[in-house]
Amino acid sequence: MSTGLAATGSSTGGEPLGDQAKIRCDQATKVYETQTGQLVALDHFSLDIAAGELVTILGPSGCGKTTLLWSMSGLHGLTDGQVLIDGTAVSGPRPDTVGMVFQEANLLPWRNLRKNIDFAFEIRKKRKNKERIEHLLEQTGLAGFTKAFPRELSGGMQQRASIVRALAQDPEILLMDEPFSALDAFTRDEMNRLLLKLWEESGQTIVFVTHNISEAIFLADRVVVMTARPGRLAHIYNIDLPRPRNIDMTFEPHFIELIQDVKRVVETGGHAIEVE
Ligand SMILES: Nc1ncnc2c1ncn2[C@@H]1O[C@H](COP(=O)(O)OP(=O)(O)OP(=O)(O)O)[C@@H](O)[C@H]1O
Ligand SMILES: [Mg+2]
Repeated sequence: MSTGLAATGSSTGGEPLGDQAKIRCDQATKVYETQTGQLVALDHFSLDIAAGELVTILGPSGCGKTTLLWSMSGLHGLTDGQVLIDGTAVSGPRPDTVGMVFQEANLLPWRNLRKNIDFAFEIRKKRKNKERIEHLLEQTGLAGFTKAFPRELSGGMQQRASIVRALAQDPEILLMDEPFSALDAFTRDEMNRLLLKLWEESGQTIVFVTHNISEAIFLADRVVVMTARPGRLAHIYNIDLPRPRNIDMTFEPHFIELIQDVKRVVETGGHAIEVE
């Protein structure tokens, strides 16, 4: 049975969405000052992301993916260019609108799992959505561990807890930095399915960084490939895979061909789009 999978490639930043963009990266450039001189991490990166879109970002290690997410979240500023959310330039964190899952779990060691999840509500002075928290704990296999402290949890469990912490907030925008890389393949598949289910229910806008090409394609409306450092836009794949998605789709010949195609682009560092 055909999945109806089709993917079209593009080497532009996609259709400009103008004021309609939920997230707009406009010539985003980040230069770090290091002991050995200036390091260009992100170079005139432009991309419009629509409300409710799930975009995945792929690129070689050190190409600027985390730098890009931090710029979107307002955790650090840009050297040049800007990121706009709902048409307004990002100048600092917006915890009510933007949630973030970091590469590391970043749980507070002196709080147990439940209190780590509660903490995110406490600092925002928000009422807890108990039902959503219980649902997420159940779905991530953590329901029996709410009293455990981070040191008593495996690395994968800590990462799942940090995902529950972010998803429990139900933010309009969720920025996820390789959230499932510490998980075994089986749990990763489960988490991918859960993420898609929650996203389909919530209509969130998600930007998801990963090194896993299959995961990037499976989740995405669009896969954005970045060049090796300095990070530029290399290629965008529109993933026209029907939803709801299921893991069987990843065994389709077309899906495997697409993985190989994307892999080639990632491995060769892509061909950077000319910056005007
Ligand atoms: N605070 C910083 N100060 C100086 N250089 C930095 C800083 N943060 C990142 N860099 C450098 O910027 C470049 C991009 O880093 P970044 O963490 O964004 O890459 P990445 O694509 O997320 O990599 P990975 O896939 O390994 O997580 C790297 O060369 C890194 O060494
Ligand atoms: Mg990173």
